[in-house]
Amino acid sequence: EKVFLNGTIYPSDAAQISVFDRGFLFGDGIYEVMVQLDHGIFYKKAHLDRLQENLDKINIAYDVDQLETQIAPLLHAASLEEKSCLIYMQVTRGVAPRKHAYPKGYPATTMMYALPFSLPHINSKNITAILEPDFRWHRCDIKSISLLGNVMTNEMAMSQNADEAVLVRDGLITEGSHTNIFFIKDEKVYTHPANEHILNGVTRKIVLELCRDLEIPVVEEPIAANAISSMDEAFLTGTTTQIASIAQLGEHRFHVPDAIGKTTLKLQEAFAELKQ
Ligand code: PDD
Repeated sequence: EKVFLNGTIYPSDAAQISVFDRGFLFGDGIYEVMVQLDHGIFYKKAHLDRLQENLDKINIAYDVDQLETQIAPLLHAASLEEKSCLIYMQVTRGVAPRKHAYPKGYPATTMMYALPFSLPHINSKNITAILEPDFRWHRCDIKSISLLGNVMTNEMAMSQNADEAVLVRDGLITEGSHTNIFFIKDEKVYTHPANEHILNGVTRKIVLELCRDLEIPVVEEPIAANAISSMDEAFLTGTTTQIASIAQLGEHRFHVPDAIGKTTLKLQEAFAELKQ
């Protein structure tokens, strides 16, 4: 395994970061996860643009184009050129004496690794998700490396043998611990608007585009937790999840427990086409 760190590619066990790195001390950094498939990195530009936008949001001065030029050398060093793999990138505010305010004049720490990873043509699982209070902060639009709320709620799901925790803020469903969520009712697709309470997922955006192409009406409004039982279908989206049908959400079992709902399936098939 190879790791790109601050301009050099190392064997993963030789890549070292200072304990004074603000990523380590404050969780002060941004990350991105993307996958390389048969025809290259899937929606690479959307992921790199989001990384740049997030760095700009928190005033980390770094040009993501620099990291982009290092992807090919990293994949080459890791013998993953042309192979299916997952690429993780992280940029933190760098190494500086521990003070809360942004330090001036310290370079960002940049890190990236790639691992073999493959995705099924269609995610055929029909998953179970629990409902948990969304006790995260009010800037979930920032793809911060501080993921404690996501980690804690995901662990609740794992400890209950569920696949994902779906989060509820003020009675409204926001997103999953590492996924976005969609509902279908009367042939219309519903998802939370891309505001400060969710991460605007690249897969979410792809699904919205597919809905437009397939002429499926979309309503970007949150669904109340107490309205779940009136929904026809539900699914999760994410880079590593693709589109995952939900069989059970909280106490509610969708009426297609062992089958995939028809709109979900239509979107899964259209999504699979994009990867060809
Ligand atoms: N998670 N919401 C949250 C909170 C996420 O962490 C993610 C992604 C998504 C889906 O975004 P996208 O479609 O761009 O992957 C939504 C990544 C994969 C992770 O933390 O591993």
